Amino acid sequence: MTIAIVTGATSGMGSEMIKTIIRAGEDFDEIWILGRRKNRLEAYEKAFPDTSFRLLALDLSTREDRERFRILLEDVKPEISLFVHAAGFGIMGRIDEIPDREQEEMAEVNVTACISLTGSVLPYMKRGGRMIYFASSAAFLPQPGFAVYAASKAFVLSYVRALRAENRDRALKITAVCPGAVKTEFLLRAAGNRTLPFYKKLVMADPAAVVKKAWRDNRRNREISVYGIPMKAFRLAAKILPHHCFLAFMGRHSG
Ligand SMILES: NC(=O)c1ccc[n+]([C@@H]2O[C@H](COP(=O)([O-])OP(=O)(O)OC[C@H]3O[C@@H](n4cnc5c(N)ncnc54)[C@H](OP(=O)(O)O)[C@@H]3O)[C@@H](O)[C@H]2O)c1
Repeated sequence: MTIAIVTGATSGMGSEMIKTIIRAGEDFDEIWILGRRKNRLEAYEKAFPDTSFRLLALDLSTREDRERFRILLEDVKPEISLFVHAAGFGIMGRIDEIPDREQEEMAEVNVTACISLTGSVLPYMKRGGRMIYFASSAAFLPQPGFAVYAASKAFVLSYVRALRAENRDRALKITAVCPGAVKTEFLLRAAGNRTLPFYKKLVMADPAAVVKKAWRDNRRNREISVYGIPMKAFRLAAKILPHHCFLAFMGRHSG
């Protein structure tokens, strides 16, 4: 059985990915879709009656559910032709303001689940298969007022680049997607009752456009997908300028 797997399927860019996969018309026996909100997973079956979905209502912040996913793969032993890992969340605020438990949960979903799910899917990835991971432009430098999130996405970017290098002989196409702010539910949870920093509002992107570029970049086997000129410029600046210049500025406009 050949399958595609999409985490973060219940909203935003994961949801756009599912629509893109279906539009592309590739031949999967099943698309496995993962998220906590079961009603949203079920909605795909109604919206796309010709597609076979396997609904995985799992909470990736828990070891039990990550283990359920691993055991399911061991039982079914599918051939995975596409793995999209879009599950993730962020919470804005100073380190000393956000409850420790919420910061740990961010690390569990953004970092631990990335490690665990990759370890689970890798043995079943088809030669030449595709893997798309959502990191963030927050990976390019530390962010005061978004510290754990930015650090978690720096992890994802570094991890994915190493994964790609380790799996060259399997011809896997592996891409880290690094958008700036994107108009999805992510921002509601991230900002809570705070106002977004003005520079994030300035560069706000459309999720369908980000996903379209990510899909194309992964097909071309690009290591990193960055949508839009402002974020490309930001990435370049973060490479060539000392980070303390940004940190002084961002520190004043966050928190
Ligand atoms: N939007 C942005 O500004 C932005 C910018 C850069 C990078 N990103 C990254 O892009 C990815 C997709 O974000 P998005 O903008 O599409 O956000 P979104 O609309 O909020 O979607 C996030 C997805 O992650 C899932 N998720 C969150 N916690 C989970 C958990 N404990 N267990 C299982 N699934 C969980 C959610 O599903 P349930 O709630 O149903 O579990 C949802 O499907 C994330 O990794 C995010 O960090 C977003």
